[in-house]
Amino acid sequence: MESPFKSDILKGKVALLTGGGSGIGLEISTQFGKHGASVAIMGRRKTILDSAVSYLQSLGIPAIGFEGDVRKQEDAKRVVELTVKHFGKLDILVNAAAGNFLVSPEDLSPNGFRTVLDIDSVGTFTMCHEALNYIKKGGRGRNSTSGGIILNISATLHYTASWYQIHVAAAKAAVDAVTRNLALEWGTDYDIRVNGIAPGPIGDTAGMRKLVPDEINNKTREYMPLYKLGEKYDIAMAALYLASDAGKYINGTTIIVDGGLWLSRPRH
Ligand code: HXC
Repeated sequence: MESPFKSDILKGKVALLTGGGSGIGLEISTQFGKHGASVAIMGRRKTILDSAVSYLQSLGIPAIGFEGDVRKQEDAKRVVELTVKHFGKLDILVNAAAGNFLVSPEDLSPNGFRTVLDIDSVGTFTMCHEALNYIKKGGRGRNSTSGGIILNISATLHYTASWYQIHVAAAKAAVDAVTRNLALEWGTDYDIRVNGIAPGPIGDTAGMRKLVPDEINNKTREYMPLYKLGEKYDIAMAALYLASDAGKYINGTTIIVDGGLWLSRPRH
């Protein structure tokens, strides 16, 4: 689908995306690149990174992949430094890496709970922490007087309660808290804007394949009036809006991109 935005709205920007090699992260990488950004993607799996980088480069997008696990502070530090070394600076950090599986609380080990918090919440904080010196106003490598942008990919399942998702709900609630608190403190001190995006059910993603098998998907559609699948494009367009100057006064918000689904109740 054609983008409604001009192709230069991120011209000259450098973006680093965790989880940027697949799913929603790859679509954001692609759209950022198509709108002028250079893109570094971080992920654990080399083959996925390699094919994502080839794909981005085939579109003429300056792109590079770095292997790393957001759970390891040394990986976060190394990847941020390599990104700045390669592209000269860092303007936009997108935290899209996430872990998920369906499990009841009684079958979930404390280590399973911790693992998802480590990836989603601690990983997001760690990446922000390591990126700060580069994306803050006047930070190393910055040639603009303003600070950079952070986008955290969240969810809507913790607004209420979701079956078999206690770990992810807790993790995403913490991500939203990180978004708000960094927006307040780093917005004030360093002119950095920190926002989130909460996707609803997005087609052709690991989240949908893992969480909503086809039978459930069809049944859900019957009783939820607002249920329709979103596209990765929808999330990427929200990311473009927040990362560009169109969103220059938006800070500390998590934009829900779910077609209104989380509001819906069965029809009486
Ligand atoms: C119960 C599980 C489990 C499962 C892992 N664990 N999978 N418990 N059911 N299916 C437990 C393990 O038993 C272990 O605890 C602990 O979690 C760590 O498991 P590991 O296998 O060592 O972890 P690791 O190899 O690091 O894998 C992490 C992962 C994995 C989260 C388990 O699925 C992953 O990395 N996925 C990344 C890709 C992904 O899921 N993307 C989709 C995101 S979708 P014990 O106690 O045994 O040691 C998304 C959408 C959110 O986020 C919102 C949608 C609405």
